[in-house]
Amino acid sequence: MKFFIDTANLAQIREANEMGVLDGVTTNPSLMAKENIRGEEACRRHYLEICSIVDGPVSAEVIATDFEGMVREGEELAALHPNIVVKLPCTADGIRAVKYFSKKGIRTNCTLVFSVGQALLAAKAGATYVSPFVGRLDDISEDGVGLVAHIVQMYRYYEFPTFVLAASIRHTQHIIQCLDAGADVATCPLAAIKGLLKHPLTDSGLAQFLADHAKVNA
Ligand code: G3P
Repeated sequence: MKFFIDTANLAQIREANEMGVLDGVTTNPSLMAKENIRGEEACRRHYLEICSIVDGPVSAEVIATDFEGMVREGEELAALHPNIVVKLPCTADGIRAVKYFSKKGIRTNCTLVFSVGQALLAAKAGATYVSPFVGRLDDISEDGVGLVAHIVQMYRYYEFPTFVLAASIRHTQHIIQCLDAGADVATCPLAAIKGLLKHPLTDSGLAQFLADHAKVNA
């Protein structure tokens, strides 16, 4: 399973990258706004900065909602850096744009996916990644991880090459559940990734090792 970090915050991206376990980055317009990045030029510079930190796929989302606008924006984003993946919403125009970029060999991430039917269309259009939103489904009492498992099963059965990228991961347990569900990638907040490290027996075991070492080396 690959780990992407789901943020546009450069300090967090650097920290995750320095852990040595980061495979890529996903962003969205809300995450860019959270970093107060305004205007197309600033967005482009920011994506390039991210690409200079992480050697892996970096999803950059289009703002346009019509096919022509998505194509125009997506082509500009893809031309920025070879690691850019064009992120497109799972709408009729978005699926059409996924197909357009797929034919051109440009990688896409089909986002805002909340059903297996949407994931089917994304795969048929040739999406590189499909992003089911786990946390947002859980928020409305649906089963986010269940959707990830359903998509994985469907893609394997029909041999679709689209990678299942579990998104809207809110906590560490979501990562483990998506791992069990067979997700190819989990895109996570830094805190959820760091949560994987935590175990009280590691802390107490290390404290004991150091205490024993200190006793004989006093
Ligand atoms: O990758 C999509 C993700 O950022 C959405 O997460 O927490 O806003 O539902 P969230």
